[in-house]
Amino acid sequence: MKNRYIPITAIVVVLSIAAAAGFLMPPASQEVPARVVMDNSGGRVIFTHLYHTEDYGFACADCHHDEIGQDTPIACGSCHPPAFDEKFRAEHQKNFPTEEACLRCHYDTPEAPLAEEDKPDTDFIPTRADAFHGQCMSCHEEMGGPYGDDTCYECHAR
Ligand code: HEC
Ligand code: HEC
Ligand code: HEC
Ligand code: HEC
Ligand code: HEC
Repeated sequence: MKNRYIPITAIVVVLSIAAAAGFLMPPASQEVPARVVMDNSGGRVIFTHLYHTEDYGFACADCHHDEIGQDTPIACGSCHPPAFDEKFRAEHQKNFPTEEACLRCHYDTPEAPLAEEDKPDTDFIPTRADAFHGQCMSCHEEMGGPYGDDTCYECHAR
């Protein structure tokens, strides 16, 4: 190898190691997770968060549709729980950093007990799996990526 190639080879090696380290690092240690691991009854899904933002070129707000002025997006599951049950009713308040977020579902600064007419209509808020299936697949249908009945295992581990 000619000497003048050595610096560029060194840079490529360093960048490759940095890229591999970024990919393998646990999502929690980064502001923008590289991957999000989702355990669920359909088989674990490893969502390539960083590819979706950098390589496929989507903006944060394309998926985090409720940024509500936050630097760090609110987790989907804070608003899209597995079910709008007793547990959600009792605990959801502490998932939100600002009162502005409450107004996404409530008309006013809410306090228990809510009057019947102040209860959010959950028919229009998808639960967790519906929110993910809905968002992942509607974009894939339009832009490429797995969707539909025969692609389950392109997202889910067997
Ligand atoms: C293609 C869709 C998509 C794009 C684009 C995207 N994200 Fe995400 N992001 C997700 C999904 C899905 C999750 C998992 C959320 C969950 O499990 O509730 C997530 C999780 C996160 C989390 C962890 C949230 C938590 O508390 O668990 C952060 C932080 C985050 N994204 C930041 C960003 C930022 C900043 C951008 C833009 C640079 C971005 N995301 C772009 C879909 C996306
Ligand atoms: C602050 C609360 C909040 C957060 C955080 C949030 N959502 Fe939503 N989302 C809602 C509400 C409320 C609706 C009901 C329809 C509406 O008002 O837009 C909704 C509707 C949806 C819908 C159906 C309508 C549509 O836009 O296609 C999908 C799919 C969805 N959300 C996916 C997600 C995903 C995936 C994330 C995380 C990347 C997320 N949401 C984060 C509150 C939230
Ligand atoms: C994703 C939608 C959503 C967001 C965001 C949200 N809530 Fe709620 N909240 C609900 C639903 C659904 C209920 C249950 C209503 C019912 O009883 O049918 C509820 C109920 C409540 C109740 C009544 C609890 C009880 O014991 O009956 C209070 C208080 C409340 N929310 C406060 C808040 C506050 C404070 C915030 C913001 C920090 C907030 N909520 C954000 C959907 C939401
Ligand atoms: C805003 C659009 C958009 C959303 C939302 C989205 N994707 Fe994708 N996804 C893409 C595109 C574009 C590709 C690349 C397709 C190609 O190059 O063939 C892709 C590719 C994939 C692939 C195959 C390659 C890879 O990176 O692993 C998987 C698996 C995947 N997406 C899973 C998901 C999951 C799971 C979600 C929801 C949590 C999701 N996607 C949400 C646009 C999106
Ligand atoms: C684009 C990626 C993608 C495809 C394709 C996909 N899923 Fe999913 N699926 C997800 C994600 C993301 C979740 C939510 C994981 C979580 O809750 O953390 C999920 C959740 C589930 C759940 C758990 C539901 C619950 O309520 O706990 C089941 C079951 C499931 N999927 C079955 C299927 C089947 C069957 C197919 C094929 C017909 C399929 N999925 C196709 C991404 C995908």
